[in-house]
Amino acid sequence: MHTVVTRGRWLVACGLLMSGIYFGVSALGSVATASDQATMAMKGPVPAGYARTCGECHMAYPPVLLPAKSWETLMAGLEYHFDDNAELLPDEHAKVLKYLISHAGFEGQGLLQKMQTKAPLRITQLPEFRHEHDELSAAMTTGNPDVISMSNCDACNQDTALARFEEEMIDIPGFGPWED
Ligand code: HEC
Repeated sequence: MHTVVTRGRWLVACGLLMSGIYFGVSALGSVATASDQATMAMKGPVPAGYARTCGECHMAYPPVLLPAKSWETLMAGLEYHFDDNAELLPDEHAKVLKYLISHAGFEGQGLLQKMQTKAPLRITQLPEFRHEHDELSAAMTTGNPDVISMSNCDACNQDTALARFEEEMIDIPGFGPWED
């Protein structure tokens, strides 16, 4: 696989955002309604443990971007994870799975609108994701040496850590800000 080009920047951002934050911040999710959970998931910072384990090869995707069933399936197949082995130690696995599921998104919200399958394994293939990115040229994305893959959300979106993808926070390397 290609190593994600913005890894350095992501790690710096993580360091600033996440120092002192650890697994356990998700405890509130268990007593909230589905809608409250989604709101919290959008706002909650990514725990350092999740960033360390799942942010090694690409950004640690905010759990709200996929439904719980997707995270369960992804976490059950880490040995063959998109041609990589992303297996975790058992105690890390349990914590990451708990975090992902308790902060997962719900069908019909955000990028999970108009879903065609119940447990998609890629955010980048969600219909709403494709719709949001359909006006971007290959030169801006997959042909851009500073982006390479649509999976590198943090190459262009400056506020991915909080799962906010505001247009004014978009800066496409070599092309600059983007307005739909
Ligand atoms: C050893 C490297 C590696 C690690 C560690 C890793 N991944 Fe991945 N992951 C990949 C690769 C490679 C892809 C495919 C990226 C691409 O197509 O550009 C991927 C893709 C993904 C995608 C789909 C992105 C899309 O295109 O929508 C998700 C979701 C994901 N990983 C979640 C995780 C989670 C959760 C963890 C932690 C348990 C994790 N990854 C750890 C290598 C890794």
